[in-house]
Amino acid sequence: VKPMICENISVSKDGKHLLFAGQDTVELAKKYGTPVYLLDEDRIREKCRIYKAAFKKHFGEKAVPLYASKANCFKRIYEIMREEEMGIDVVSSGEIYTAIQAGFDLSKAYFHSNNKTDKDISYAMEHGIGYFVADNVEEVIAVEKEAERRGIKQKILLRLTPGIDPHTYEAISTGKVDSKFGNPIETGQAEEITVFTLKQAHIKLMGFHCHVGSQVFEEDVFERAAVVMLKFVADMKEKYGFITPELDLGGGYGVRYTDEDAHLDIETKVGEVAAAVKKACTDFGIEMPEIHMEPGRTIVADAGMVLYTVGTVKKIPGYKNYVSVDGGMTDSPRYALYKAKYTCLLANKMDEALDFKASVVGRLCESGDIIQEDVMLQASVGRYDIIALCTAGAYHYSMASNYNRLPKPPTIMLKGGNESYVVVKGETFEDIVRNDV
Ligand code: LLP
Repeated sequence: VKPMICENISVSKDGKHLLFAGQDTVELAKKYGTPVYLLDEDRIREKCRIYKAAFKKHFGEKAVPLYASKANCFKRIYEIMREEEMGIDVVSSGEIYTAIQAGFDLSKAYFHSNNKTDKDISYAMEHGIGYFVADNVEEVIAVEKEAERRGIKQKILLRLTPGIDPHTYEAISTGKVDSKFGNPIETGQAEEITVFTLKQAHIKLMGFHCHVGSQVFEEDVFERAAVVMLKFVADMKEKYGFITPELDLGGGYGVRYTDEDAHLDIETKVGEVAAAVKKACTDFGIEMPEIHMEPGRTIVADAGMVLYTVGTVKKIPGYKNYVSVDGGMTDSPRYALYKAKYTCLLANKMDEALDFKASVVGRLCESGDIIQEDVMLQASVGRYDIIALCTAGAYHYSMASNYNRLPKPPTIMLKGGNESYVVVKGETFEDIVRNDV
């Protein structure tokens, strides 16, 4: 009925049922219940391999992509990342704990966050975290103190803000200097923290990091950020003789949520960044540092889908139609938070015409609990139909809540066109009261 936004989405031979990763979503809904998160393991692995191959080709053997695990975080995903030989970006002790449970080698982990507590710092060091991506001078001081106490030398990157606004291509680049993250290059604060860090006896400064934004489609953003960062690298070499071993350019490439979104080819994009990096290194007369990037969304988003069951259809003549499903902003918070666009499909009626406009809404007690507004659905939509929300593998489960005491749905991994297995169990009512005393 609709152009399929990703190649792992198709329809059954008779045209009726929506298939995801080659499997019948209506059958999956029956087997696992709804709401349910589906994840396409083959797609996740394919994305890791695309990134790895592109990095190897354009940046050399040592350049490793880091999966930004905030996009979707649970034990099995770290096992997959371990098997795919990816590095990871973690942002909390909770993510670190999860990675440890999965046997992930933390020497390949980069610990972000603009406010790590002393407890976080100690916990991460205790477990041999590879890198702290230090955001501010308080963190550098706290890391130095803890590393001294443990008698080790801790590797860190410093997070800088290159002053690039990813959303308005022509915008004056000072926009992003105003951010809660990182040390602005423009104001001299990046240089100050670099000088300060180099003086610490128990810290090994390994380089710099920046992250310009997320769901980025604008051309050139990563290239411009890379040039600003490499200019800084060259300045630090010239002024202080500091040779930068690593440069991490963050995550942020956009994915297709609807057929209006462009398709970004990762291999091409990485190639473009590499060309800009190599040119800048030649221009500034410096060695190319080991390059990292931290894709989150592009690894998991289109590997994911949420299935819901329709409960009610409310038609208000002259106003609007509402289709209510058995989940909502608790499992899919991105419309409520960002008015994020998505593709919604009626998974069991794919052969019928799209002639009914409705807002798909959740079951939570608040009007902002909307999955998507003004979606074209089939006029026969009604109770027990299955609604699929596509491109839902990133920032759904990881941002889910228990508002109204709704249990979080399970995550089911799909594999090989016919296998499926539970990677996160659905919460029970006992789980809901587990911490109540
Ligand atoms: N590295 C850093 C330092 C980040 O802050 C982020 C995302 C990433 C990497 C991964 O970016 P990605 O490749 O996934 O775009 N909750 C929002 C997205 C927040 C992104 C936060 N940082 C959403 O649902 O759109």
